[in-house]
Amino acid sequence: MPQDHPLTFADADQASIPLALLTAEAFDGWRLAQEPGARGWAEANGFVAGPGQVLLFPGDDGAPEAALGGVGSAKDRARGRFALAAVAQSLPAGTYHIESGLPQEPADIEAELLGWLLAGYSFDTYKEKTGKQVRLVAPEGVDTARIEAIAAGEALTRDLINTPANDMTPDGLQAAAAALAHDHGAQCSVIGGTELLAENFPLIHAVGRASDCAPRLIDMRWGQSGPKVTLVGKGVCFDTGGLNLKPGSSMGLMKKDMGGAATVLGLAQMIMALDLPVQLRVLIPAVENSVSAGAFRPGDILTSRKGLTVEINNTDAEGRLVLADALALACEEESDLVISMATLTGAARVAVGPDLAPFYADDATAAALEAGGRRAHDPLWRLPFWEPYETMIEPGIADLDNAPKGGFAGSITAALFLRRFVNEDTRYAHFDIYGWQPEARPGRPKGGVGMGARAILAALPDLMGLEPAE
Ligand code: BES
Ligand code: MN
Ligand code: ZN
Repeated sequence: MPQDHPLTFADADQASIPLALLTAEAFDGWRLAQEPGARGWAEANGFVAGPGQVLLFPGDDGAPEAALGGVGSAKDRARGRFALAAVAQSLPAGTYHIESGLPQEPADIEAELLGWLLAGYSFDTYKEKTGKQVRLVAPEGVDTARIEAIAAGEALTRDLINTPANDMTPDGLQAAAAALAHDHGAQCSVIGGTELLAENFPLIHAVGRASDCAPRLIDMRWGQSGPKVTLVGKGVCFDTGGLNLKPGSSMGLMKKDMGGAATVLGLAQMIMALDLPVQLRVLIPAVENSVSAGAFRPGDILTSRKGLTVEINNTDAEGRLVLADALALACEEESDLVISMATLTGAARVAVGPDLAPFYADDATAAALEAGGRRAHDPLWRLPFWEPYETMIEPGIADLDNAPKGGFAGSITAALFLRRFVNEDTRYAHFDIYGWQPEARPGRPKGGVGMGARAILAALPDLMGLEPAE
């Protein structure tokens, strides 16, 4: 279902309108340096270099000859990301180049330019494309191919999340993974339906068996040499809650419950397009958590691939079940890094809201990821694998409880549950993401959104001992 988004820069030889970026702090200086005509024009238009504010200077034929873009005060900039995206969204159609006002740091420039490309994203699989073409000739010296690859990966993530569950079924998710693999010469294999039982993926089968669209495990591999990175993404294409049915208000957004899968696929696309020297594996348990006579039930005790038994105390805590079998498979071979990404708990959303990607990792991995998040303007927030809460996931009549009572630390107990399926000596990070932008922000329209992928991409050189990008 992914579409072709033209998230690319304009060619350097194209005619383009100069765009000067101004902070609110620099605006007074700018005013004083102007001829009365320009000063009066800014005043008449109420231009004060506020975030996303634009002032156009018409040429003799009335068409814009130059443009000013506001990036706001230090406070505005601290409160939002992608200041240039906000400017791009206010500009009329046309091709521009940035004359002045970009940040100093290469990583900050990259983030702003990425914001421009992402401002051009819209989800229009189901309606005619509207939207204007606001194109940018990238400044010299930036790695445009890298920024375009990141924008394309993010667009894939958004498309996959935005595509509704009637089309983004486990079949649809498999087709998207296969298409991505095909585009980049990756291998993609699938174990589906009752084969999951024969091949010992009992939890994936149990969660997905009530649906008419069979559960499956998607396994993609790419790259011949370098450190091994395994990404595991929750692919619950729709989460009704199962027999512990969600109320309507909680079910409304559950097409996004494959947000982890969408995010690891977007990240995989970035890694492959950039030809990073790693051996990549992507595992996606793709299921629908549906209701039927054959659905798994509260009280069932299931034996996982790893052999640990799990008491099902809530069929709505399904993500950790399908991920458990996928993580167990991931750990059957050596990996230098295993990362899981999942829209796993409502508790994570309550704790940090839709902007931050909460994650769990050991100290060294966490430091690298946090630094990557800062460089990429992809904010993360670390939560602890808090050992004393291990007892909360131990029910007594089985090894594990999938839904501890008490309502404490829901995201942490889910992370601890997942960690039981990872080898102790494997470097492991887990992201409990929201995957959805509830209100439009610059570069991020309302709808599906990638979280954490760009932070991981930025951290990979450090994490894997690769040569850094710059
Ligand atoms: N997919 C949901 C988590 C979710 C809900 C993420 C809303 C983002 C927004 C997950 O499968 C779920 O239902 N989790 C339950 C677990 C509980 C039953 C232990 C939750 O968080 O309420
Ligand atoms: Mn659920
Ligand atoms: Zn879910």
